[in-house]
Amino acid sequence: MPTLFDPIRLGSIEAPNRILMAPMTRARGTREHIPTPIMAEYYAQRAAAGLIISEAIGISREGMGWPYATGLWTPEQLGGWRTVTDAVHAAGGRIVAQLWHMGRTVHPSFLAGGQPVSASGTTAPGHAHTYAGKQRYEAGRPLRTDEIPRIIDDFRAAARNAVEAGFDGVQIHAANGYFIDEFLRDSSNFRTDAYGGPIPNHIRLLREVTQAVADTVGADRTGVRLSPNGETQGVRDSNPVPLFTAALEALSAIGIAYLELREPPLDGTFGVGDLPPLAGKLRPAFKGPLIVNSDYDLARAQAALDEGTADAISFGRPFIANPDLPLRLARKLPLAVDDATMWFTQGPEGYVDYSATSKASP
Ligand SMILES: Cc1cc2nc3c(=O)[nH]c(=O)nc-3n(C[C@H](O)[C@H](O)[C@H](O)COP(=O)(O)O)c2cc1C
Repeated sequence: MPTLFDPIRLGSIEAPNRILMAPMTRARGTREHIPTPIMAEYYAQRAAAGLIISEAIGISREGMGWPYATGLWTPEQLGGWRTVTDAVHAAGGRIVAQLWHMGRTVHPSFLAGGQPVSASGTTAPGHAHTYAGKQRYEAGRPLRTDEIPRIIDDFRAAARNAVEAGFDGVQIHAANGYFIDEFLRDSSNFRTDAYGGPIPNHIRLLREVTQAVADTVGADRTGVRLSPNGETQGVRDSNPVPLFTAALEALSAIGIAYLELREPPLDGTFGVGDLPPLAGKLRPAFKGPLIVNSDYDLARAQAALDEGTADAISFGRPFIANPDLPLRLARKLPLAVDDATMWFTQGPEGYVDYSATSKASP
């Protein structure tokens, strides 16, 4: 069995270890959703990750609803990201862009008062982060069937832009209660057209977006993130195993580079699962490399590789406070803990000021 410190091929990417950085929004862009120079420093500090999966990046204005998050739909945004990808590559790392449409969680204040789009006319529970503080989510508008090609085109364009901006590939964000997940799971999809109803219809949008992106940048540079277990932002499924088995089989047939499952345990500290972990059950349905995430530490991560549940692990919060996480895990050093009050603040504090372990220390 491989260890966390063995290399792994993820499509066209040769990752030198299996300790990957999970996607994390950090809100250090501008109001025009352009990356800032400090982001180049942050990601370059974490270049020792086997692969960096970037923070979620908006594919279009319609899909963007997070203050100071970034996009990939204007030349200025591409230019900002080019600075980041150059810095990561100069530091010896690899980085893919997580492509994001936020669906019903885009607050109307980001849309000049317009209505967000979703699978059906539903409303996310709780509050959106907006430039005017937290505000209640508002109802999404069910997307018309004839509008779906437009959104698929936006994913295609953002994938092309990501490669142009120097990313080594992309990850389609189909998890966590955002646009694609709203179509996948049955708490938010009540459609009666070809995108709702039986399972093949629930996975149709995921399949079509993934095929379009794979046709644009190559299946070997296309990854996907799913969250099959547990409610996120009001999205869950009443019977996830058949749904996600079908989704994994469809993604397998497209031949994507890797699949990441974000699956919090029943006692998770960043969301909780509805069921005991599903990754082992779902594993046979996907033939490529499988990455798992949420609440992993060194022992649990190595156990997942030993059991054959996963081929690599992505770590989120541990990478915030431990920029050289692979080195710290290799040396079994104690891990620093991140300050959650700094997750979405603008500026360097709690962002680029976590220090690396001295490479000279024993
Ligand atoms: C500050 C923060 C921002 C996050 N942003 C994203 C994101 O942009 N996209 C995404 O898919 N998940 C996001 N997540 C979820 C993480 O990728 C990951 O699933 C979560 O942190 C659990 O993994 P961990 O236990 O290793 O931290 C975020 C998590 C945190 C803490």
